[in-house]
Amino acid sequence: MNTAKRRTVIAGNWKMNFTPAEATSFINAVKPLVAGKDNCDIVFCAPYVTIAAAQAAAEGSNIHIGAENVHFAEKGAYTGEVSAKMLRAVGVDYVIVGHSERRQYFAETDYTVNLRTKAALAEGMKVILCLGEVKEQRLAGITNEVVAMQTKLDLADITAAELKNVIIAYEPVWAIGTGLTATPDQAEETIAVIRATLAEIYGEATAETVTIQYGGSMNEKNAAELLAKPDVDGGLIGGASLVPEKFAAIVDAAQ
Ligand code: 13P
Repeated sequence: MNTAKRRTVIAGNWKMNFTPAEATSFINAVKPLVAGKDNCDIVFCAPYVTIAAAQAAAEGSNIHIGAENVHFAEKGAYTGEVSAKMLRAVGVDYVIVGHSERRQYFAETDYTVNLRTKAALAEGMKVILCLGEVKEQRLAGITNEVVAMQTKLDLADITAAELKNVIIAYEPVWAIGTGLTATPDQAEETIAVIRATLAEIYGEATAETVTIQYGGSMNEKNAAELLAKPDVDGGLIGGASLVPEKFAAIVDAAQ
């Protein structure tokens, strides 16, 4: 697990799950299980319409509620989108940007991911920036090149001061929702490449301070060995973030 230099962040990505009532029951169930577990930050990123219910249930606890995406414009003719300013106005301080499902199903590119990241940072939000290779890229032996390129493009024109509010989630796309997990060594090696790329851009000292999570079928069974790796600073969890006991077990593994 990561050193005192970096904060461990265990975050759930609920994706398109949970009505407001379901989110309330979930938070009420998970809250006592993670109470006092302060060796990591705990975040759930919720669909826009369930954010208010999740926030109300989480009030006064160590649970933060985030969003799953944000648009890059401040306002205007962007039907269906939500701006960083709107999220801030309802007290949201974390947001996922660049999730592979957004890239795959909604045509987001490194360019728009960069714009969205900048917009969220400009509003003082913490961004969980997702990147990772697809199966064909891993099989072709170009994972390192892919993640280095994504790191550079997604963080283009982002300053070292702004980077303090960026958490990177390394999510190999072939491991998302498939039950396949990167081995702890694969996670460690690829995260080390991302960190080396950050060092190229921002210098080694700054790179050492950036929290880099692993995501992709992380669960209550494999979390401890993934989090034991020195460069794995937490997890971004999909399926297992929908079950209070499973999520709480991952938080326990991070203590
Ligand atoms: P799973 O944990 O369901 O594989 O999802 C990972 C993910 O996409 C988190 O953002």
